Amino acid sequence: MGSEGYLVHQFVAARTNKRTDEWGGSFENRIRFALEIVRATREKVGKNFIIIFRISVLDLVEGGSTPEEVLQFARELEKAGVTILNSGIGWHEARIPTIGSMVPGGAFATVTANLRKAVKIPIVATNRINLPEIGEAILERGEADLVSMARPFLADPHFVSKAASGRQQEINTCIACNQACLDQIFQGKRASCLVNPQACEEKEWQDKFSVPTTKKKIAIVGAGPAGLSSAIAFLERGHDVTVFEKSTVLGGQFNLATLIPGKSDYKESIRYWKTRIELLGGQIILNHAIQDVNELKNFDHVILSSGVTPRDPKIPGQELPHVFAYDKYLREQMKPGKKVAIIGAGGIGFDVATYVLFAGKHFDDNAVEFMHHWGIDPTKKSGLDPTFKAARSPTEITLLQRSDRAFGKTLGKTTGWVHRAEMKRSGVKMVGGIQYEKITAEGLWIIHADQRKELIEADQIILCTGQLSENSLATKLTAASIPHTVIGGAKLASEIDAKRAIRDGIEIAFSL
Ligand SMILES: Cc1cc2nc3c(=O)[nH]c(=O)nc-3n(C[C@H](O)[C@H](O)[C@H](O)COP(=O)(O)OP(=O)(O)OC[C@H]3O[C@@H](n4cnc5c(N)ncnc54)[C@H](O)[C@@H]3O)c2cc1C
Ligand SMILES: Cc1cc2nc3c(=O)[nH]c(=O)nc-3n(C[C@H](O)[C@H](O)[C@H](O)COP(=O)(O)O)c2cc1C
Ligand code: SF4
Repeated sequence: MGSEGYLVHQFVAARTNKRTDEWGGSFENRIRFALEIVRATREKVGKNFIIIFRISVLDLVEGGSTPEEVLQFARELEKAGVTILNSGIGWHEARIPTIGSMVPGGAFATVTANLRKAVKIPIVATNRINLPEIGEAILERGEADLVSMARPFLADPHFVSKAASGRQQEINTCIACNQACLDQIFQGKRASCLVNPQACEEKEWQDKFSVPTTKKKIAIVGAGPAGLSSAIAFLERGHDVTVFEKSTVLGGQFNLATLIPGKSDYKESIRYWKTRIELLGGQIILNHAIQDVNELKNFDHVILSSGVTPRDPKIPGQELPHVFAYDKYLREQMKPGKKVAIIGAGGIGFDVATYVLFAGKHFDDNAVEFMHHWGIDPTKKSGLDPTFKAARSPTEITLLQRSDRAFGKTLGKTTGWVHRAEMKRSGVKMVGGIQYEKITAEGLWIIHADQRKELIEADQIILCTGQLSENSLATKLTAASIPHTVIGGAKLASEIDAKRAIRDGIEIAFSL
């Protein structure tokens, strides 16, 4: 492991190696530690044992290697006895996203390609290779000999067999949210996966799988992440499943998430759920809002996964035409105005700010634009463009929250910093510790803690003021004595929590 800023890498990089003996100073001295480890390992394991060395191809922090040094190091590693070179991207300390959902698929493969020209041993491309097509394209372009995947195997342990047998559509795709893998690790918990809660919990789930069941007719009301993952789990257990969805599409709020720059991969989850339900013979009825629970009388059990509705903040003036709830603003893919105030700085507030910042444009599939946006230049030392200046937002954006705590506290542990950095460097104004007084044609009036009033001028005001569970059918189901269970956002509205919604959906299927 010679990358990401771990021990071996700390010897290689001048930013951390301050030694004055033969292990520090010149580049030759700094790579000596790594080379000695490889030589000693080769000597012990013999010539047929595979040694894979992860070399940092881009440091993305000050005081890293030049592109020439990376190639020189690669050649020395080859001579020392390495069998395969894997590529590492960025130190953990790098202030540039390297694996988050905003990183386009296979974004760093072109950098790995340079290594391939320098050595004869096989080279591995890495990071955000989450679809078979991305891996295939890298291999076809000759950018690497192999591709590696970490999180995609948490999302779907059958990735390889599905890809090999032409069943790509059935792959449960990693959406690079980090919410259940790295975020949990950094909270001292076991890694799992948002889209596959069984990952790394196989033993515990085995006990759930063994709960006996008899075939039932199940109705699922609401086709968001909770309802759809529940439908799959019920079908896998041999039940009859009918999914009712009031809109014309599957996926619930994930359809809004896909509109956020950096989250377009969320559509892959919807593709997976749809494919799987159809394959397992589930019935999907779109454009059908359940209003009368008598429709559900013939089902043995109803799963109420009807999600959430935006919370009404009751700010005087919010009925004015330049005020929008976040769902309407996104669903209608509105064009940002000149001055936009966003009320509420939770996960959705930050996402909406990102949407406004990028004016709804995505570069999710464009590695060149991504690198340009973050100041990555693989031809420069450390992979950093020394002249880089982040683009300022063409829209004047103010993100507001009532709480006086730091902004973005509710965001993911390993991704929150990216969102905060994005806002800061683009000039988004963040105003906290305030009350909302009223909205007028000029904008939003706020009251500061010291009672000072201020007008935040805005030609668009977006309400991201939380959500309420939409479970009005539950009382009707109880009154009609129809067995039912409420799951996901309908059970507990907590903004961005597809992790819980999906787990809820699967758990109920394995307990009935
Ligand atoms: C912009 C945005 C970004 C997000 N990003 C993330 C993220 O990165 N990570 C994360 O964990 N979460 C994220 N979320 C939140 C995530 O989408 C929700 O936690 C999740 O969708 C909740 O799933 P659910 O199935 O409970 O509800 P929903 O997704 O709300 O689905 C409920 C479904 O029920 C349908 N419905 C309602 N009533 C009826 C009825 N009577 N009859 C038939 N159908 C009905 C609705 O039309 C809807 O399709 C984001 C949300 C938004 C808006
Ligand atoms: C739970 C988890 C643990 C990881 N641990 C390591 C590690 O110990 N060493 C390492 O080099 N990379 C580690 N990584 C990073 C992966 O090797 C990989 O570089 C990264 O996840 C990006 O690739 P992916 O998009 O295929 O996940 C870890 C990733 C995850 C999700
Ligand atoms: S939790 Fe998110 S990032 Fe981690 S493996 Fe699952 S889908 Fe991928």
